[in-house]
Amino acid sequence: MFTSFFLKMLNREAASSKNESERIIESLRIQEGYRIADIGSGGGYFTLKFAKKIGKTGKVYAVDSQPKYLDFIRQQAEREGLDNIIFVLVAEDEVNLPEAALDLVFARNVFHHLTEPARYFRNLKRFLKPSGKLAIIDHKPKSGFSFVSIFRHYTPERLILQEMEKAGYFLMESLDFLPEQTFNLFGVK
Ligand SMILES: C[S@@+](CC[C@H](N)C(=O)[O-])C[C@H]1O[C@@H](n2cnc3c(N)ncnc32)[C@H](O)[C@@H]1O
Repeated sequence: MFTSFFLKMLNREAASSKNESERIIESLRIQEGYRIADIGSGGGYFTLKFAKKIGKTGKVYAVDSQPKYLDFIRQQAEREGLDNIIFVLVAEDEVNLPEAALDLVFARNVFHHLTEPARYFRNLKRFLKPSGKLAIIDHKPKSGFSFVSIFRHYTPERLILQEMEKAGYFLMESLDFLPEQTFNLFGVK
């Protein structure tokens, strides 16, 4: 009950106009047949959008550490008749995906949850195709009274860039249209 309430809240946040989900998806230049991992898929807002965009020949891997969150997305996918989503449960930061298969790894509002982000993203490198890219969106630091500031659900951008360099990625593009988040695209070095 609480899980469903919380995930609907996450999805509402992702859908709100200030968070520019359509512009995010456009910037990723997703094509039919793409294979995409949505890391920390939460309530599945982006998982479901990706699944519709890539069509029957593509695949989305919804990756999360919470089995109930994956169940929530599975139910939604069934309701919408989407059968191109694979559900991947992460235990102790060990992600298992097909090797050299992914066109895109997408991680929105997840970076600040990771205890060792450089290690986590270094492990994901082997799942990307050589031409593949990795997108990280996270909250900008915030002060004052808000959910993001009180629970420190943010990461300074320079820390993201530093950790991704350590993990063996290069910065392809920084996009600055999101008012409250940073958005960076990386390739594998
Ligand atoms: C703030 S939510 C973001 C959800 C979604 N990406 C969005 O933008 O709405 C963070 C998600 O990351 C997941 N998560 C936390 N640690 C994780 C890990 N080590 N591996 C995969 N997912 C993780 C949480 O369970 C949660 O679903």
